[in-house]
Amino acid sequence: MKIRKLRTNHFTNPVGFSIEPLTLSWVVDSEKATKQKTARIEIATDSKFADIVFDSGNESKISSVAYYPDFTPEKRTRYFWRVTVVANTGESATAKAFFETGKKKERWQAKWQTSPFNSDNKHFFIKKTFSLADFSDARAYCSALGIYELEVNGKRATDEVLLPGYHSYTQQIQVQTFDITKLLKKGENTIGMHVGPGWYNSDLGWADADNFGANTAAICEVRVKTGKTVKLVAATDNSWVCAKSPVVKSSIYYGEDYDANLEIEDWSTNECKAGDWVEAVLFTPPKGTAGPLHDRYSPPITIHETLKPEIIKTPAGETVLDFKQNFTGWFEIKNRAAAGKTWSIQVGELLQQGNFFRDNLRKAEAQYTYTSDGNEAVGRPPFTFYGFRFMRLNNYTNDVNPEDFRGYVVHSKLDRTGYIKTSNAKVNKLFRNALWGQKGNFLDVPTDCPQRDERLGWTGDAQVFSGTAYFNMDCSAFYQKYMNDLILEQKVYDGGVPHTVPALMDWLRNKQGYGACAWGDVATVLPWTSYVFSGDVELLRKQYIAMKEWVRYIKTQDDKHGSKRLWQSGYHFADWLALDNYKHPESSEGGTDQHYVASVYYARSVELTLNAARVLDEKSDVEYYSKLLAEVKEAFVNEYFSPNGRCVVNTQTANVLALHMNLVPEKFRDRLIMDLVKKIKDNGMALSTGFLGTPILCRVLSDNGYPEVAYALLLREKLPGWLYEVNMGATTIWERWNSVLEAGSVSDIGMNSMNHYAYGSIVEWMYRHLSGLNPLEDSPGFRKVEIRPDPPQDFKYIDMKYDSPAGMYAVSWKLAKNRVEFNFTIPFSAQAKIFLPNAPATVKVGGKSVNTARGFTLTAGNYKVAYT
Ligand code: BGC
Repeated sequence: MKIRKLRTNHFTNPVGFSIEPLTLSWVVDSEKATKQKTARIEIATDSKFADIVFDSGNESKISSVAYYPDFTPEKRTRYFWRVTVVANTGESATAKAFFETGKKKERWQAKWQTSPFNSDNKHFFIKKTFSLADFSDARAYCSALGIYELEVNGKRATDEVLLPGYHSYTQQIQVQTFDITKLLKKGENTIGMHVGPGWYNSDLGWADADNFGANTAAICEVRVKTGKTVKLVAATDNSWVCAKSPVVKSSIYYGEDYDANLEIEDWSTNECKAGDWVEAVLFTPPKGTAGPLHDRYSPPITIHETLKPEIIKTPAGETVLDFKQNFTGWFEIKNRAAAGKTWSIQVGELLQQGNFFRDNLRKAEAQYTYTSDGNEAVGRPPFTFYGFRFMRLNNYTNDVNPEDFRGYVVHSKLDRTGYIKTSNAKVNKLFRNALWGQKGNFLDVPTDCPQRDERLGWTGDAQVFSGTAYFNMDCSAFYQKYMNDLILEQKVYDGGVPHTVPALMDWLRNKQGYGACAWGDVATVLPWTSYVFSGDVELLRKQYIAMKEWVRYIKTQDDKHGSKRLWQSGYHFADWLALDNYKHPESSEGGTDQHYVASVYYARSVELTLNAARVLDEKSDVEYYSKLLAEVKEAFVNEYFSPNGRCVVNTQTANVLALHMNLVPEKFRDRLIMDLVKKIKDNGMALSTGFLGTPILCRVLSDNGYPEVAYALLLREKLPGWLYEVNMGATTIWERWNSVLEAGSVSDIGMNSMNHYAYGSIVEWMYRHLSGLNPLEDSPGFRKVEIRPDPPQDFKYIDMKYDSPAGMYAVSWKLAKNRVEFNFTIPFSAQAKIFLPNAPATVKVGGKSVNTARGFTLTAGNYKVAYT
């Protein structure tokens, strides 16, 4: 028996994160024991557990998916925690971890500082040299309006990049805490920050510039411990000095220009003699441009993989590097050019007629320019990121050596949880492409795409992909951060949700309003999804306010338009990019009536808020939302169904939404599913769905007795279909079904990304139906699950593993000559109800005969079942 995956508020040994309320979790792996008898949590101020400040005692009720000790940690303090689990067999295991708090509510001694030349150049170094006596521990608490890198005595202080990340800056600025003990020494020390504009001070989202604020600035406090005393030894003020950075221009969309001639050798060391250093200036962010400083929520953004390119000479004579994978991140390039020479690169997602192509990046220049000082050095852009597969070299030396180039895959650091492998290589590729879509769009914010002039936290994309995302990776911390931003933004929008979180689309808000259905519904879908997947009820409690506010917003719109209990007003993206807008095929809006979709989501959001109210035991809310839900459902059926059960909105998505969201009276259900199947068949056995219908289309078919139609859609190799893009060589998921046409040409450059994860949400169906693993909402965190595998004849096997909060599940099946063999692994203290397809009345499981008709329950262990 072993305990692993110890997490504090879903982070591994977090330092300086916002961890309220304190939430501990872990996973038990066990060969023999099946159940927890008791667990005990101890928290101490020392790693030897001599000074214990909390002890739960041995308790049977302590849950490994989320335990909330009645303990409030002090600010800036490291705690060690230890969990001891005793199992039903008497076996026991212990494991330990730590967490350290940040500044919490402590007042800042440091002040925002900027460079005196900030109006001309937003890039600068800022540093301070200070002296230290003996010390045992040291921390830096920092942030920036912009992006920063922290250096101490010439060394990078962390492997995190793009700090402080991308969040709702106008509402809150996240602070990072770094343990810099090993980088400091007795005597003189230098600490410095390299600052650039990044997301903060940029043209994100079609603004001209200065989205959040017009200045870049930095803030930093250094505290060291000597004996028991902690002393502030440096805090940004005008005793810090600034100098210009060799980065002469950068922005998220633009990329970066670097002039090596402007480098300041050893800029962050005591020995630095170079550079024109001038006094830093105090900066007071103008009202509304920077929220209060707050301990961080964001998981670290780090490098996860390194890619090596191949060199291509294109028909147009270009030198292009192919990294073989569309990815998000940046690169390192060795400079071998002579002094004064400038070379540059541009990136793109695909080739056209064999040549470099970047027109679908729209206004995003996505380039990198390097002016050489004649020294061999490695260039890398610290203040931006790129979404790309191909890189064109301009004016680079004639001799291009692939060893001089590296691609770095950058995204938020999350635990990978889900793995699927099947006998179908194309389906496997589709699975991997969706995973790459997640990696590429999980850079602190769940984004629509990582390459063109958007890269924004579009709420609709986040909503539809959240189930898939949770199966692939543990997203609790990542989405908690997103939801924190959303809640802060909702205050500005009176309960409404901006189309993107962080909000910045003034242009869009003025033109189309905010609070669009299915996009804004991320406010209810994400908290509920997070709760079901994580089992962390405190996440739900924190986010409950977002759910209630969003429902209040919708109901206000409804009340403004006659209280029909339908949502019949406002602009809605609805089934974005669906193929059934026959009247306006050029439009991005699908054929499903927008207000039908809005009314569906009205009901959905009320239902999820009701679910949450029940879990949180909010009695009066339960009553309120039950009544509202009944009214909305009734109004919906009256408005959209004929007395015989025909849905008057005649699209695949209309049927799919009503079926999935339980809006169909039972007596109409069969008709509606048959109508859906007919529509698919009439369409040449093809889907016509967009952003909203697609993610649940196959789930609805499988759930309602038509798995073979779901498989046919999955395995379709022609347009439109998932495997079409696999056949066309995609390495991520495209934004449009026909992003690239059969002849290989890009269908459109106006809005056409090759890395848009929305349609990758088919992967949720793969977990839930191909392998059959489904979390049960009343036992969240996968403590109890249902497993309903449904092996299609076209497959020979599947292997699925999912490292849930409750532990590792595995489901695999093999099909051979009409014999099917299943293998199930159920984790410690968990339970699975198994439903086998076409099974005989009884089967042998673990030496015992069990009835299959109504499913059977398995507790922890490994099981094999086979039948013909
Ligand atoms: C984005 C989408 C987004 C949409 C709004 C697009 O430009 O890329 O993914 O959800 O606008 O409908």
